[in-house]
Amino acid sequence: MEKIIEESKQGESLVLENKPENNKKLYIESYGCAMNFSDSEIVASILSSNGYNTTQVLEEADLVLVNTCSIRDKAEQTIRKRLEKYNAVKRINSKMKVGVLGCMAERLKSQFLEQEKIVDLVVGPDAYKDLPNLLSEVEEGRDAINVILSKEETYGDISPVRLMSNGITALVSITRGCDNMCTFCVVPFTRGRERSREPQSIMAEIQDLYEKGFKEVTLLGQNVDSYLWYGGGLKKDFDKASEIQKATAVNFDHLLEMVAQTFPKMRIRFSTSNPQDMHESVLHIIAKYPNICKHIHLPVQSGSDRILKEMNRLHTREEYMTLVDKIKTIIPGCAITQDMITGFPTETEEDHKDTLSLMEYVKYNFGYMFAYSERPGTLAERKMEDDVPEETKLRRLQEIVDLQQQHSLISCQEFIGETVEVLIDKISKKSAAEFSGRNSQNMTVVFPKENYKIGEFVNVKITSCTSGTLKGEAVGYSEMN
Ligand code: SAH
Ligand code: F3S
Repeated sequence: MEKIIEESKQGESLVLENKPENNKKLYIESYGCAMNFSDSEIVASILSSNGYNTTQVLEEADLVLVNTCSIRDKAEQTIRKRLEKYNAVKRINSKMKVGVLGCMAERLKSQFLEQEKIVDLVVGPDAYKDLPNLLSEVEEGRDAINVILSKEETYGDISPVRLMSNGITALVSITRGCDNMCTFCVVPFTRGRERSREPQSIMAEIQDLYEKGFKEVTLLGQNVDSYLWYGGGLKKDFDKASEIQKATAVNFDHLLEMVAQTFPKMRIRFSTSNPQDMHESVLHIIAKYPNICKHIHLPVQSGSDRILKEMNRLHTREEYMTLVDKIKTIIPGCAITQDMITGFPTETEEDHKDTLSLMEYVKYNFGYMFAYSERPGTLAERKMEDDVPEETKLRRLQEIVDLQQQHSLISCQEFIGETVEVLIDKISKKSAAEFSGRNSQNMTVVFPKENYKIGEFVNVKITSCTSGTLKGEAVGYSEMN
């Protein structure tokens, strides 16, 4: 989402502070997008009130849950391998139960229980509050399933336990589901219709994070710019709302401004912006508040008008370029990042060249690029033939990856000699003598530790870089401290 979670975190098992009164052990692994990682924190919170502490040792678990991703076939294959592994352990530890959560649970539903007989529990993304009931069924020897998608569920009343947390940065979900129906995408089927979370519960969650010492939040949604709270209910039903509801509705501009004003000492990020829903007004808010990070993840998927249309992306190449121009004028120095798909059905060499030329135009700071993977049930799967040969998809993918690499290097080089504000979030993986953090543009910055600490905002003068990392030296604390 897409704040995509780093490769190294995929499949990480999550642990939280344990309650002494809990006597059962939960092992929970997450795959896919940031929303899934955020959901696992909600699940752990629900189960923590129902007798479960988390463990990182698979073999000692009473309950193994895997929060799954269906976005591409490869993601599902990875999870199938994990299920095989859990079942091997289950043969030794027979009291262990295995459950599938998330998008694959929603997509494959009872198939896991009936045909494959490899899991005890199947729970879709809107049914996590039902977990305690479902677990009682499992304990009584029955398989349990709830994959009902909801019009209202936003888990606004659950205070997530911060599982993968460094205590510095946290994910806060603001919308669930997606109404866009991009023809390649399985998300509207697995996560249901779009609904927004009550602003007060978002503010309360951030307040709580602030009090716990967190320094940065990322507001999460499939399509954050379409956030709209009018008292609950689906985004698509807004037209039917009362005049009062309409007059007091909170949109993303309001929400973002409210968060930035209320928490001036916290950094605010958001992801993802869909170009068709991002308007100029939000750009002025991003520009106005120094604590809103200057980074917009703006997936485009293709640079070809014809392909954009086939994908049901509701904007043209030209409109996208105009939006990019506006971003660059209104928010100087703003990083723009992309998601791109190569080899969508009917994509020609000409279409691919359009993608490359759009990339040349924007010069993205970073990107997530994928070969098209046909997903069962999507409009593209039903109406179009997956006709671009695999080797062509992969060759085109390599071409855009190579071009992105060049652009990432250029964006990094532009920072040499500049001083950037960095929120320190960890010790550098490469050297224990260095800290690693992110600047406003979400680029990784590495520098010698000196006497600084994790969680502090420091100004770092950039002296060199690679295509993915800025390197420099701290020159003092920033005003955000
Ligand atoms: N609007 C969402 C998109 C979620 S999917 C968000 O960004 O929050 C994340 C990315 O996965 C998409 O932007 C797209 O580039 C890629 N993707 C989705 N479906 C795909 C498919 N069938 N094949 C290849 N890539 C896909
Ligand atoms: Fe998927 Fe398009 Fe929504 S990519 S998540 S249907 S915006």
